[in-house]
Amino acid sequence: MQLIETHAHIYSTKFDDDRDNIISRARDVGISQIIMPNIDHGSIEGMLKLETQYPKLCLPTMGLHPCSVDKDFEKELQTVKAWLDKRKFTAIGEIGTDLYWDKTKYDYQVEAFNQQVNWAKKYRLPIIIHCRESIDQTIELVERLADENLTGVFHCFTGDENHAQRIIDLGFYLGIGGVVTFNNGGLAEIMHKIPMERIILETDSPYLAPKPYRGKRNEPAYVIEVAKKIAELKQHTIEDVAQITTLNAQKLFNLNG
Ligand code: NI
Repeated sequence: MQLIETHAHIYSTKFDDDRDNIISRARDVGISQIIMPNIDHGSIEGMLKLETQYPKLCLPTMGLHPCSVDKDFEKELQTVKAWLDKRKFTAIGEIGTDLYWDKTKYDYQVEAFNQQVNWAKKYRLPIIIHCRESIDQTIELVERLADENLTGVFHCFTGDENHAQRIIDLGFYLGIGGVVTFNNGGLAEIMHKIPMERIILETDSPYLAPKPYRGKRNEPAYVIEVAKKIAELKQHTIEDVAQITTLNAQKLFNLNG
């Protein structure tokens, strides 16, 4: 069984003590690629080090996370742009908006998002979108910028079926993670409305561990719990879920099988 983990911050210091074990457990469950979304200038070095250490397994992306957007965001964006000019990345991410932590930065977040979406179009790269308490606004931003060159994923999707449909209409994918296993997450109830062809798997490690690890540190190997839950909800075999979501991720991120 092959799985692609499309969202894990395994460069996080939370893995400093046992990162090699985390990687081997990921391989043991069949993970062939781990996509590492960037946060800001401070995460680049650790992320690229992992790429060097685990080539073809750990794939870096480049972008500025909305929670790292402040009034000096132009400087951060210059760093992003310099890296995009210099070498190839799997995607632009993670980018988006966040009204959970700090509502006063929203206008900067929108500016940073729009700029990075334009680079995604220029470089023909998919985007990894973060939105928290801002899914309506973020879908609208994407709808405004959409064209035939723009694709990507709404990572850690937790919207309703209406949001899901708008995202599907945009040609985007839904990143499904640990929330689908939560009893009160609201996501399990709408999974039957989301076609398998639009789903990719993720953990968002070290955050949002699925049941039965909820509240603990998350790690890529737990993506199997997400796959299991989707299989149960959609009455597929786990092998089918693995195969379809792997194909979806390969298509979206241009990974060859
Ligand atoms: Ni993330």
